[in-house]
Amino acid sequence: MSRGTPLLVCRGLARAYRRRGGRLEETIPVLSGLDLEVASGESVAIQGESGIGKTTLLNLVGGLDRPDAGEILVDGRPIPDDPDRRAEWRRRHVGFIFQFHGLLGELTAEENVALARIVAGDPRDVALAEARRWLDQVGLGRRIDHYPDELSGGEQQRVAIARALARTPRLVLADEPTGNLDPRTGDRVLDVLFGLQQETGFALVVASHSERLARRCRRILVVEEGRLRPVRTPDADGAAAGADKGIP
Ligand SMILES: Nc1ncnc2c1ncn2[C@@H]1O[C@H](COP(=O)(O)OP(=O)(O)O)[C@@H](O)[C@H]1O
Ligand SMILES: [Mg+2]
Repeated sequence: MSRGTPLLVCRGLARAYRRRGGRLEETIPVLSGLDLEVASGESVAIQGESGIGKTTLLNLVGGLDRPDAGEILVDGRPIPDDPDRRAEWRRRHVGFIFQFHGLLGELTAEENVALARIVAGDPRDVALAEARRWLDQVGLGRRIDHYPDELSGGEQQRVAIARALARTPRLVLADEPTGNLDPRTGDRVLDVLFGLQQETGFALVVASHSERLARRCRRILVVEEGRLRPVRTPDADGAAAGADKGIP
């Protein structure tokens, strides 16, 4: 792995939510002074109890939300402020995998995966061919014309992985990707995700309170008091490579 400029840099991130509770305006501080660096091709688990700020962090890093303070650089450049340019930036740079697959119910697996490329201007037949290739990669070559409600939970999540990877982002963000699955199905989904990560070398930041998932990542960080604290840094690259493959 290259030890050059990190793919993702977060410096001094802060985010608080403001909401009206009756007559009072309530401020809920979530992140404050958070720093994070992720190298190309690295896998990082973000842990922490429910409500601690994991989703908030992923939303900021993926350009779905803006920080109150601090900066985020991907590939050395800040995420655009303008909402349209930010949406375009997202399509180009980040793949998202959510806990609840987020597939469109009225589109087939193939169309769901192809959609981002069609929106980005790729010809429909090219986008569909690429979608089939990615569905093949996640082991769903025989399910391409199924609608989401004709797929199991694990299959839906594998379609979501294909969708996230179809534009070959260098940064993939996964928010509790197995949170909705039983442990065995979750393991199969993670085999697919981490297998493709090894093969294609995207950086993966995955929020989860699951130990099983965190163990597969090269680094584990936990959100505490609005910042990240390392839980374990593998002492040797060999151990890290083993962790990435799910080898204990
Ligand atoms: N849109 C919002 N408005 C107000 N509070 C929010 C909003 N989104 C999240 N929160 C609060 O921010 C905290 C962090 O939420 P979140 O990042 O979703 O945590 P996690 O993903 O670690 O479970 C929680 O206390 C949650 O209730
Ligand atoms: Mg969350």
